[in-house]
Amino acid sequence: MDEDRPGVATRSRKIRRGTVERACLHPDLPIGAPTRARHTALTRSCPASAQSPPAGASPWPRARSRASPLPNPATTGATPRATSAREVRGTGDELHQVAGNADATLTTNQGAPISDNQNSLRATPRGPTLLEDFVLREKITHFDHERIPERIVHARGSAAHGFFELTRSLAKFTTAGIFNRVGERTPVFTRFSTVAGGAGSVDTPRDVRGFAVKFYTQEGNFDLVGNNIPVFFIQDAIKFPDLVHSVKMEPDRAFPQAASAHDTFWDFISLTPESMHMIMWAMSDRTIPRSLRMIEGFGVHSFRLLDAKGRSTFCKFHWRPRLGLQSTVWDEAVKLQGADNDFHRRDLFESITAGNFPEWDLAVQLFTQEEAEEFPFDHLDPTKLIPEELVPLTVIGRMVLDRWPDNFFAETEQVAFCPANIVPGIDFSNDPLLQGRLFSYLDTQLLRLGGPNFHQLPINAPKCPFANHQRDGHMQMRVPKGRVAYEPSSLERTDGRENPAAGFRSFAEPADDGAKGRVRAESFADHYSQARLFFRSQTPVEQSHMAFALVFELSKVETPHVRAAIVGHLRHIDPDLAQRVADGLGMDALPPAPKAAAPVIDMPPSPALQIIGKMKKTLEGRCVGILVDDGSDAAAVAALRGAAEEAGATVKIVAPRIGGALLARGKKLPADGQLAGTPSVVFDAVALVLSDEAGARLATEAAAVDFVRDAYGHLKAIAVDAGARAVLEAAGVEPDAGVIDAANPAKFIKAAMTRQWEREPAVRTLP
Ligand code: HEM
Repeated sequence: MDEDRPGVATRSRKIRRGTVERACLHPDLPIGAPTRARHTALTRSCPASAQSPPAGASPWPRARSRASPLPNPATTGATPRATSAREVRGTGDELHQVAGNADATLTTNQGAPISDNQNSLRATPRGPTLLEDFVLREKITHFDHERIPERIVHARGSAAHGFFELTRSLAKFTTAGIFNRVGERTPVFTRFSTVAGGAGSVDTPRDVRGFAVKFYTQEGNFDLVGNNIPVFFIQDAIKFPDLVHSVKMEPDRAFPQAASAHDTFWDFISLTPESMHMIMWAMSDRTIPRSLRMIEGFGVHSFRLLDAKGRSTFCKFHWRPRLGLQSTVWDEAVKLQGADNDFHRRDLFESITAGNFPEWDLAVQLFTQEEAEEFPFDHLDPTKLIPEELVPLTVIGRMVLDRWPDNFFAETEQVAFCPANIVPGIDFSNDPLLQGRLFSYLDTQLLRLGGPNFHQLPINAPKCPFANHQRDGHMQMRVPKGRVAYEPSSLERTDGRENPAAGFRSFAEPADDGAKGRVRAESFADHYSQARLFFRSQTPVEQSHMAFALVFELSKVETPHVRAAIVGHLRHIDPDLAQRVADGLGMDALPPAPKAAAPVIDMPPSPALQIIGKMKKTLEGRCVGILVDDGSDAAAVAALRGAAEEAGATVKIVAPRIGGALLARGKKLPADGQLAGTPSVVFDAVALVLSDEAGARLATEAAAVDFVRDAYGHLKAIAVDAGARAVLEAAGVEPDAGVIDAANPAKFIKAAMTRQWEREPAVRTLP
């Protein structure tokens, strides 16, 4: 009866299989010994050898060996396999790769050699598994503990090693060695991040990007922990948990992930007018960057530089990408989330590993206390920037990122940036947001990295000598010697003694005569003037994008009074913007504006705040995709590729099949991406070189039609030959100045160096 029940039948087949004579992996038993006998020998007569064979003995002397010769890459064209292991099949046909001469022996974390990494120790061949199996337990325990708490903010990040090179001395202003010795290269580790999403979230949400640089200087680590936006949402650190709770997933429903477009965020913002300047930046294309290699970075707060006499000069830090600033358009950023979750990480990885090292200039804005008093805003308020037109930027050095980390976890995940990591010659200002940050980072890292010794991790350890009397704690890596762990002391020589000459000094700031208390400075009360400055400094296209973003975000807000409150704030910034957003939201009338705490003033526009105005016309560091199929003209493909590479771009071939396409008058051209998985969103410009036949075929292929339609909608240059025009027509694309004959690569390259902004009104309605 049981034989008729599939489950039972399978089980009985399995039982029979267990008694079949299989290859014996134990050295003390002959080939063909029944599995049960082999197992008894393993567990009873020789328990130790169950884990590690006797010295000198091979654990696999008589196993049924199918040692497969390694394929010769020269003849097969295959990637060489990076192992000299002998391959052996076990009794269940599982693969054992046995260490050859060039391979290290696998060991436990205690160093014990492991004889079998495929099978746990079992009481019988079919179980149960023995608790005694310390190899299994150690491996599983370590795995269970592989995840550490992710960062509460900026959880998703990508990082790289590199160096900072000083090109202009600041010796007049600071004793910091890193800013004194022109030509000196200081190692850096730089991590870029999104703020709101979890570690596994996508790379291209609308979000601020973190831009954190750890300089391993000769006087200790200096962490410049900034963002790609020069101002912040809030003026006081005590509001940070509220801000972050509002933007993160809503607590009852756990969505949306990595998105500000929801009620709690905009509710908080609507009640926090100090955030309106940052909101203007967040709604601009700055928060949907094309590449991490193409973002600016800002230290945000005013810092102090201190000279040898302890005199102070205020300093703001700016990073400027050599590749120029560039963003995506919103629809493109959204589609990138589907096309490639890791778009920015992959882009950074591919460019660094290909030797195209991203580079930034470091510039400073220097100003005195007296100059600061003349500014029409308070520079200690982190919702304010100092326009370049008021205090110009001086470039003092460059940062090059030239090495991808060896291990993501050990480096990118375990790195711990902290604004309090500072070196002599640099000091903090009284910015109340910065003051709170000085506490927060070390505090969170004690939890995230599991104890007080995370500074000993290689990625966090200073590269200069360090010595103190701090002791013990979780994961202490050092083995201090001697009796003395205190100071002052006289029993032994010890390393660490204080050093008034070279040690860190704080600026001797005279205390002002204000009274202690929980008060916000009145000079922080103007929330709209710089928001207006930013909006009015943008090109019309960028202003439209900001209005569009506001309409998009507020349309996701379900609560009408929150939408109304935001539009009310916008009225102080720019009445026209408020009207456009209100129209976009379908409001019948403009909501009332809240009372402004300080008069809103007009400042001269600052074109330096634009993206499009500052975008370099270049293809350097960009990527061009060429869609081909069987029969594509080899010469046309080669000419386009040559021209794009000549202009500094990377070229990727896209074809319906990953194996490539057989070109007319040419060879088979391997593809870098398959059409269905490589949409045009991942490119800066695209070309289609197709035979008439392939063009007609792909005109009915959704992926090909979308390839063109999206490139057009995302304002990219498109080169097409005669065969590809069928796809163009199927996509309903109206050829314009950015749609170019593939026979004219020079013209295509020129158009590809920018986006076709004038096309935008033809493809979407902007408020
Ligand atoms: C100007 C304002 C701010 C900027 C530019 C900024 C920037 C950053 C950056 C870039 C990171 C990621 C560091 C990394 O790559 O590991 C970060 C992490 C973090 N920030 Fe901020 N932040 C700001 C304000 C604040 C404030 C006000 C607080 C708290 C009072 C805060 C608390 C944190 C915490 C707890 C982390 C996680 C650190 C870790 O787990 O290692 N931040 N911030």
